[in-house]
Amino acid sequence: MVKSGLIHAFLQLAFCAGDPTFLESVDIYFDKAAAIAATTPDILAQIKACNNILKVQFPLKCANGTVELIEAYRAQHSHHRLPVKGGIRMAPNVDADETMALAALMTFKCAVVDVPFGGAKGGIKIDPTKYSANEKEAIIRRYTSELVRKNFIGPSIDVPAPDYGTGPQEMAWIKDTFEHLQPNDINGSACVTGKPLEEGGIDGRQEATGLGVYFCLREFLNDEALVAKLGLTTGIKGKTFIVQGFGNVGRHTIDVKFAQGILELPCDVLIPAALETQIHSGNAGNIKAKIVAEAANGPVTPLAETMLEDNDVVILPDLLLNAGGVTVSYFEWLKNLNHIHFGRMSRRMEERGKTALIDALENQFGNGHRFSDEVRSQVVKGNTEVDFVWSGLEETMLLSWENVKRTSQGRNCNYRTAAYLIAIERIATCYRVSGIFP
Ligand SMILES: *[C@@H]1O[C@H](CO)[C@@H](O)[C@H](O)[C@H]1NC(C)=O
Ligand SMILES: *[C@@H]1O[C@H](CO)[C@@H](O)[C@H](O)[C@H]1NC(C)=O
Repeated sequence: MVKSGLIHAFLQLAFCAGDPTFLESVDIYFDKAAAIAATTPDILAQIKACNNILKVQFPLKCANGTVELIEAYRAQHSHHRLPVKGGIRMAPNVDADETMALAALMTFKCAVVDVPFGGAKGGIKIDPTKYSANEKEAIIRRYTSELVRKNFIGPSIDVPAPDYGTGPQEMAWIKDTFEHLQPNDINGSACVTGKPLEEGGIDGRQEATGLGVYFCLREFLNDEALVAKLGLTTGIKGKTFIVQGFGNVGRHTIDVKFAQGILELPCDVLIPAALETQIHSGNAGNIKAKIVAEAANGPVTPLAETMLEDNDVVILPDLLLNAGGVTVSYFEWLKNLNHIHFGRMSRRMEERGKTALIDALENQFGNGHRFSDEVRSQVVKGNTEVDFVWSGLEETMLLSWENVKRTSQGRNCNYRTAAYLIAIERIATCYRVSGIFP
């Protein structure tokens, strides 16, 4: 009697507890793929574990004379590839678990799009709207010097980027502080990505995540067999989109194509673009979209995923969908290491070659006709940096989507598990050749 009462109470507790935490969610998704991954338990345990987690606390002297203690983190999830990479966020709910969950997602995301980095993430536990620009600058500079002292930042070690609550300005402060403390590092500007253009940033980085979301959605919606199953016609045109969250990702997704709205309205595609665990067991039943496109990191809990799938909703997972940001960060890092921007050496040469070709065509076959100035300038135009960046991004997203789709069909699992499988098996290959694991 007592025993069954206890079991009953336990079940009720487990039931009422509802959704797991964000970190638990990432582990649940990982375990689901791990169960069917072609690798050993030893390697799986290594891939799952967060390697390093740094917590720092330092004083901030506020403009009004008071002193506040600031709490901040950097998690390095996996060093199978170096440097490790991941954004820094400023938000009041930052903690060690959230930072570790986001760092793990970075590891898997980089592996899915074949960007040769390990995963990391940073967080500063403040509400950025409550601090002046000068105070934020002091916080970022102090955080960066803490990272330098602990060897947690550098072009070949760990390379931060913007995330929720940070942007190009914060990245410029990080770069300046790093270069001040490490004056002999000729690659110093590659210590952080998402910088302003004039500080070594890359053209097109701001729009990259949103554009990556767009490329993936376009490919999915152009796949006749896949959209027919949802009772939709092919193509982006005529579909209704709702974007939740109007941060950098949402704004640039919209810039490229879509319109704004809220969470439970009828639509074809729902794009959660804000923070994690926004779609949970409490509201998943009310979602009326046919496709949920995860522009945010971890917006759907495992319980919500099951509920959505029971209602035949297709989920395009974060690991693939929002990987455009880190892909273009990778291009920025390469640009900084090369100390030259894309197109500088080739653009004029390309234009001259194409001009010679079009002149020759006119002379040989034109019979006195000439190409219009418009056609001529379209054909002749050499590639600028943003042309390289966006075509590289499109190539990356298309290949990765094809791979996720093929894996999902071949291994009979949803797109999220397929993305985790691709990541796990790619990372496992690195560990297999390391000689540590039997
Ligand atoms: C002083 O400024 C800080 C940061 O702007 C703020 O968080 C704090 O509440 C202020 N304290 C007082 C006493 O006004
Ligand atoms: C800078 O990066 C280049 C690779 O682009 C590397 O060969 C070189 O060793 C690096 N230099 C330093 C000082 O880290």
